[in-house]
Amino acid sequence: MRPAVPDFLYGTAWKEDRTPALTELALRTGFRGIDTANQRRHYFEAGVGQGLAAAYRAGVVTRDDLFLQTKFTYRGGQDHRLPYDPSADLSTQVAQSMASSLEHLGTDHVDSYVLHGPASGHGWTDDDAEVWEAMVKERAAGRARLLGVSNVSLRHLAQMAAAGGEAPAFVQNRCFARLGWDRAVRAFCGERSIVYQGFSLLTANPEVLHHPLVARIAARVTATPAQVVFRFARAVGMLPLTGTSDPEHMKQDLASRDLALSGEEVRAIESLAG
Ligand SMILES: NC(=O)c1ccc[n+]([C@@H]2O[C@H](COP(=O)([O-])OP(=O)(O)OC[C@H]3O[C@@H](n4cnc5c(N)ncnc54)[C@H](OP(=O)(O)O)[C@@H]3O)[C@@H](O)[C@H]2O)c1
Repeated sequence: MRPAVPDFLYGTAWKEDRTPALTELALRTGFRGIDTANQRRHYFEAGVGQGLAAAYRAGVVTRDDLFLQTKFTYRGGQDHRLPYDPSADLSTQVAQSMASSLEHLGTDHVDSYVLHGPASGHGWTDDDAEVWEAMVKERAAGRARLLGVSNVSLRHLAQMAAAGGEAPAFVQNRCFARLGWDRAVRAFCGERSIVYQGFSLLTANPEVLHHPLVARIAARVTATPAQVVFRFARAVGMLPLTGTSDPEHMKQDLASRDLALSGEEVRAIESLAG
């Protein structure tokens, strides 16, 4: 069964010991999509699992209410706390990382499994094709419902498609307004029904948050510039991520879904910086 994809993802990077409590709080606040990674350097995936377990125990949500997304991260993106045997071949590393993720998250499947980043910044390599094949096998075995790739360029995506592998269901990228909010990659995704997940929508775009146009729109809809950016992201078809640690910001980020922006405002923000 294909899981329903939520309209916002709560990101769990960089939270360390606060990960369990913040994950639980995000669920209590209304988030139903959780993004993590089996990369201890930036994420505490077992802590996400602790937060989920606390929310299940308290009757806030059940596993079936949730969209859980995690990632496979190459050796180069990890520190010494590896979720696999680095001397094993890549397919085995994917299987070991997945088994470890399922244990961390206390589940028998994730809703989305994402390749954290390709092996090279320059193009889709044989290693990537091997990892992707292993991820497809994980999905075939029922341990993942949908697959995605992250930190990819248009070139990666075009080469991946040319290699004949299955298309991803998700692309997760840092979204820079100065690149037309990743316009080229979003267009590629739009043509293929790939859902574009945008992260760093606020931190990558300070010039947008301080722009008079965004301030004017925020005043008109009685919202903050951050909320306007998240609403804009939805309006152009993105699935936004927020990793806020602030309870008020959690509420504001979810409430942004109800803001009414005009088509003209959306177009103006889209071409604001690039
Ligand atoms: N695939 C990848 O390689 C990759 C890389 C980076 C991130 N991610 C994912 O994306 C998630 C989000 O990361 P991010 O890079 O977007 O950064 P982030 O961790 O979400 O940081 C966003 C910043 O914006 C602030 N913020 C959030 N909502 C706000 C609001 N309503 N008003 C004002 N400030 C607000 C936060 O401050 P407060 O905490 O004070 O609210 C924080 O300083 C991560 O947790 C992770 O899951 C993936």
